[in-house]
Amino acid sequence: MNNIITINNNTFEIRLAKLEDINEIQILNRKWTVKSLDFDNKNDGFLFCEEYKPEDLKKIIESKEIAVATTKNEVIAYYINDNHSHLLSQYESAIKQLIQDDIISENLRVSKRTQIVVEKDFHRLGLPSQMLKLLKPYLTIKYDLLFSIGINENPKRIAHEKAGWKIVYENDFNYYCIYKLNADK
Ligand SMILES: CC(C)(COP(=O)(O)OP(=O)(O)OC[C@H]1O[C@@H](n2cnc3c(N)ncnc32)[C@H](O)[C@@H]1OP(=O)(O)O)[C@@H](O)C(=O)NCCC(=O)NCCS
Repeated sequence: MNNIITINNNTFEIRLAKLEDINEIQILNRKWTVKSLDFDNKNDGFLFCEEYKPEDLKKIIESKEIAVATTKNEVIAYYINDNHSHLLSQYESAIKQLIQDDIISENLRVSKRTQIVVEKDFHRLGLPSQMLKLLKPYLTIKYDLLFSIGINENPKRIAHEKAGWKIVYENDFNYYCIYKLNADK
């Protein structure tokens, strides 16, 4: 399944990621990853975590849980739902805590980690929701909820909330949020 859309005179293809995209996805991931929060101008957002390795991305692509947006044959955004990488232990512990605290019901199927990146020139065009729309048929057969951990200092926290994510826990440093794939659950 793929999808061509035009927004503000830019034409994008929204599709599942392919193995040939690994290099470009890795470049986007690396570009937005910071090693410390001690930097100026956080306005466009950032990723404060380890980078994905090609073997992680291969598994995620093969599971059909990642979409990309391309323009002029270049990958300019991705929407990762990660249940296979080597970067999940913090997410698994957080989900376990939320189940123990009855914030997430234990019969629900939870996708462990969502990470979204859109290149700066294409922010505020609604690409994340287009990518999620494409992924939904693949995700809803496996999961009831998507899960993510955000950093309070990321001003893009608002983008999570506006896109329908619900913050279910927060402390001084980060926040946990969920997205219901099936509104009835
Ligand atoms: C976070 C990110 C994916 C959002 O992408 P985006 O393309 O801007 O998202 P959307 O177009 O869907 O914006 C969603 C909504 O968030 C809100 N929003 C986003 N940025 C905002 C800002 N700087 N100020 C106020 N509201 C903002 C808006 O309500 C926007 O909808 P609107 O334009 O219709 O008002 C993008 O900024 C990004 O890749 N940043 C770098 C990496 C990152 O921080 N990822 C998040 C960690 S998972």
